Amino acid sequence: MACCLAAGLPVASSCSGRGSCSLCRVRVLRGWDALSPMDGHELEVLLRNGAAPDERLSCQARVTDVQADIAITTGYW
Ligand code: FES
Repeated sequence: MACCLAAGLPVASSCSGRGSCSLCRVRVLRGWDALSPMDGHELEVLLRNGAAPDERLSCQARVTDVQADIAITTGYW
């Protein structure tokens, strides 16, 4: 989420990045391995909200490799 906002890309949220609303979901097109591992809480929220296997909560996923080629999208961009 921080990277998106820094790039001027809007990110939906109603939980202020606490990982509970699922509105910030993004589809990871490239660079999945350059993101922090998903924890149990994020997985639970994604499953509860019917997320696809290639989606992450942008507020929970951190970029761990700044050199990586990462591409994401959402339904509202
Ligand atoms: S901002 Fe609510 S889950 Fe990410």
